[in-house]
Amino acid sequence: MAFSLLPSSLLVAAFMFSTLTLLLSLDGVRAQQTGITRHYRFDIRMANVTRLCHTKSIVTVTGQFPGPKIVAREGDRVVVKVVNHVQYNVTLHWHGVRQLRSGWADGPAYVTQCPIRRGQSYVYNFTIVAQRGTLFWHAHISWLRATLYGPIIILPARGVPYPFSKPYKEVPIVFGEWWNADTEAVISQALQTGGGPNVSDAYTINGLPGPLYNCSAKDTFKLKVKPGKTYLLRMINAALNDELFFSIANHTLTIVDVDAVYVKPFDTDTLILAPGQTTNVLLRSKPSFPHATFLMAARPYATGSGTFDNSTVSGFLEYQDPRTSSTASFNKKLPLFKPSLPSLNDTAFVANFTSRLRSLATAQFPAKVPRTVERQFFFTVGLGTSPCPKNQTCQGPNGTKFAATVSNISFAMPTTALLQAHFFGQSKRVYSPDFPYSPLIPFNYTGSPPNNTLVSNGTKLMVLPYNTTVELVMQDTSILGAESHPLHLHGFNFFVVGQGFGNYNPAKDPARFNLVDPVERNTVGVPAGGWVAIRFRADNPGVWFMHCHLEVHTSWGLKMAWLVLDGSLPNQKLPPPPSDLPNC
Ligand code: C2O
Repeated sequence: MAFSLLPSSLLVAAFMFSTLTLLLSLDGVRAQQTGITRHYRFDIRMANVTRLCHTKSIVTVTGQFPGPKIVAREGDRVVVKVVNHVQYNVTLHWHGVRQLRSGWADGPAYVTQCPIRRGQSYVYNFTIVAQRGTLFWHAHISWLRATLYGPIIILPARGVPYPFSKPYKEVPIVFGEWWNADTEAVISQALQTGGGPNVSDAYTINGLPGPLYNCSAKDTFKLKVKPGKTYLLRMINAALNDELFFSIANHTLTIVDVDAVYVKPFDTDTLILAPGQTTNVLLRSKPSFPHATFLMAARPYATGSGTFDNSTVSGFLEYQDPRTSSTASFNKKLPLFKPSLPSLNDTAFVANFTSRLRSLATAQFPAKVPRTVERQFFFTVGLGTSPCPKNQTCQGPNGTKFAATVSNISFAMPTTALLQAHFFGQSKRVYSPDFPYSPLIPFNYTGSPPNNTLVSNGTKLMVLPYNTTVELVMQDTSILGAESHPLHLHGFNFFVVGQGFGNYNPAKDPARFNLVDPVERNTVGVPAGGWVAIRFRADNPGVWFMHCHLEVHTSWGLKMAWLVLDGSLPNQKLPPPPSDLPNC
């Protein structure tokens, strides 16, 4: 009697389904996948690329430079199989992806995984939860991210609109740095001599330096638009060592999203983007054909005392003449308008711009700022020196070697992955769980620097119980010069509740904290000669790297890691590693 079986089995299935949904909602499982799974294969291969009349062999994903984009909707699972065919050890990081209970897929070498060696592969598997906007992926070992990077486009879940008018078209704008030299040689030589590394030869937009460099006019990015339309620019700063100002002549930009979180929209002629930061901006084209071409340009914001690449990358905003039908016919003989950018050290512009960034803080997109905090930390960030080894001459300050620190501790990279050591209970010889709550030797951080600039070294982690609410104040120091540091935290978004110049004052400054609509992001600039206060909830078990996203400072040791412990419930624990996780 097959027919009589059917209704009852349907009933059972329906009952099981509703029980499952009930269980899941009761559990409050947030890392739940609601979308589809998207598969990518990234073959890491060398490729010859020519810029500035200089051909070099670079590390790429399947020969593309910049790398391919990953497109997903909020709620989708992303599975990327990375196969390494090159002589370099490789890891990839999905910068800004929250990696809820998927810390094994985060990617920083020797933090969450050992590198993928030549001939090996590793599958990164993660779900995009409650994020929409633009992020990017990049190599996370040595300086390989100089050429190994690409966009991550996160669209809203199907059927969910943007909280702003639907753009006519979306265009990624990825900033990078071009080096004629081999970047792996540049950093290894700098670490040997202790001096500052050589600087890049050009900045790029989508891999193209543009017409302001020698032998580069043919390598120019062109944004071709129609009059009267709205374009969504998905902007990424994937440069190694430089914060960048960006502007388009005679056009206003509306900032609508930073680091894959919506913000209260605001208009600006110029924006600032630090390495590791991303933003979505709306560009409204002129209502009618303007009989002109407009230059877009980016150049650095630099506060340090060292040399930097002070060149300008540019591209064209070209309008399609409505009298011509083909998109290919753009009139070349039109007047060209150029944008004006802030001066290279315009800290006031940066402070003003960042203070305008606010969370939407609506019912649909609430700002879940921790109102009270269980742990308060005060870390300094800045430079210092290490002694020159005997029988060597060093090119750092006064014959020493450059170093960089968090709270005067220059992070010593382990030779095995921190997360593996923690998970398998083998941490003893790998790291110590005693990162200090505040600097062991306080001083006037932004006053005249102390005579002793020597740093200490260690692999120290800050341990947090699951779900701890954290406040962290990061204070720049004037040791070897005050400098802006874009600090990036893996595994979390944080709220930027306050910032200021000079020394942080715990008696006065918290009264001015914004706990209502502070911007939520994953990378924040510690102002040159100032401080920034952030808050977050440690709701993601794992080992999470935090470092300056100026690669030279990371190389010098401006990095540390948080260890967030498992919670007591099953869905508050880090699952075991995937079987293909590389070993060291
Ligand atoms: Cu974008 Cu730890 O990096």
